[in-house]
Amino acid sequence: MENISAFPLLSLGADIIDDFKKYKKTIIDYTKNNKPTDNEDSSKLKHYHGEDLSVLNDISFRDLKDILLEKSTYYYKDVMGYKEDLYISDSWINVCEKGGYQSDHYHANCVVSGTLFVNLGKDFSPLVFKNPRTTNYPLCSHIRSQSDKETLYNLDYMSVKNFEEGHILLWPSYIVHGYKDNKFDQRTSLSFNLNIKSSGYLYHYGVKR
Ligand SMILES: [Fe+2]
Repeated sequence: MENISAFPLLSLGADIIDDFKKYKKTIIDYTKNNKPTDNEDSSKLKHYHGEDLSVLNDISFRDLKDILLEKSTYYYKDVMGYKEDLYISDSWINVCEKGGYQSDHYHANCVVSGTLFVNLGKDFSPLVFKNPRTTNYPLCSHIRSQSDKETLYNLDYMSVKNFEEGHILLWPSYIVHGYKDNKFDQRTSLSFNLNIKSSGYLYHYGVKR
């Protein structure tokens, strides 16, 4: 029995941006000077996508974009063990007022997603990740097993706490996530998706842009 092992289900990565204050100011300034779009579900959650649906393409975020790409690539290649080069396909800023929420969702057309925590108060709602093996989508089990013991492998969801401004969270894009009942005004984060530039695996896939 000692030879039995299990795979971690939620392959979350975490990192920190050095000297974050200057990046925070740039992000907050952007939200003051640009018009947001409404979230489909929560009227207290707004998004800033930028003109070409990737706010990090704005010239003011040039250094930050390079840092996020570098850290995401490390997570994808060195930690997870894949070999393709990545690019940031889309990115946006989220500002959530007190009482707002982010409905459960996952990100399509990408392999890695991430969030940079920008402006957090004591009562901000942490991101909650659903276990793909025990929740309804994208994968689900047809038989519901019972358990008396909570482990990394049978939990339904994981709430990511102890995050601070300047911290980055990275995860495989298919994992369902969201948060409820935010209690901190101006909860601000910058989210981003990364896709592979090309793949030679079985059938060629590539992006030209
Ligand atoms: Fe998301």
